[in-house]
Amino acid sequence: MSKYLVEDTRKVTTQRFGEMKRKGEKIAMLTAYDYTTASIMDAAGVDAFLVGDSASNVMAGNATTLPITVDEMIYYAKGVVRGVKRALVVVDMPFGSYQVNADEAVKNAIRIMKETNADAVKMEGGEEILPAVRRILDAGIPIMAHLGLTPQSINKFGTYGVRAKDDAEAAKLLADAKLLADAGCFALVLEKIPATLAEKVAKSIEIPVIGIGAGVNVDGQVLVYADMLGMNADFKPKFLRRYADLNTVITDAVGSYVSDVKACDFPNENEQY
Ligand code: KIV
Repeated sequence: MSKYLVEDTRKVTTQRFGEMKRKGEKIAMLTAYDYTTASIMDAAGVDAFLVGDSASNVMAGNATTLPITVDEMIYYAKGVVRGVKRALVVVDMPFGSYQVNADEAVKNAIRIMKETNADAVKMEGGEEILPAVRRILDAGIPIMAHLGLTPQSINKFGTYGVRAKDDAEAAKLLADAKLLADAGCFALVLEKIPATLAEKVAKSIEIPVIGIGAGVNVDGQVLVYADMLGMNADFKPKFLRRYADLNTVITDAVGSYVSDVKACDFPNENEQY
């Protein structure tokens, strides 16, 4: 069992998220997609995990988040929930699972909550998804909203560039953030938008705003764990800080194992029965 680095090992709830904002305590969130990694990161004090649809890229090697299915999200989320004792676990609703109509959206959200035992779901979009948001909230399922760069709409945007740089898009984003907060979402992710706009949104709504590429003046941060651990050597966006170089660590360790096997240095007499 992993040793916990934080003293307060109480389970983080959606209510606690709100308290953290009110007290000015920043929220540290990461993605997670599997039991083993989630249990290590949970013990290191992460406040919340997002079982992100970025699993489509990170775990399955797809170019976008679009192909991942509800079944696949449920599979990843089950492993994460089993590994996590303290952090809040939020599961992304994948592309196609809430855009058709509110009935399908609530069915899929209920399925995700029932089968994974997670704490909440996340959905990308503003006013256009409000009917689905309302139905899911009415079913008692907490929602983390997501505005700014919303990767499920990559085919509409055409690039993964910074969003809401012009006044019209910034005004729509602020209005959407207020609508989602008023509807009852418990938190909001803002991805890749100007830091000044993110700060303005965080000050305009009472729910916590979690940024990724949105500057420091929000209520918390989220990163894809594989990116912040330096597993993908080629992914270097400006907003990313690398806390480790696991690509090199893994390459060196695996290279040593291969050499040892080839040289009959592994296993030795203490490593056999
Ligand atoms: O799927 C994901 O990893 C996300 C984060 C980038 C916020 O939505």
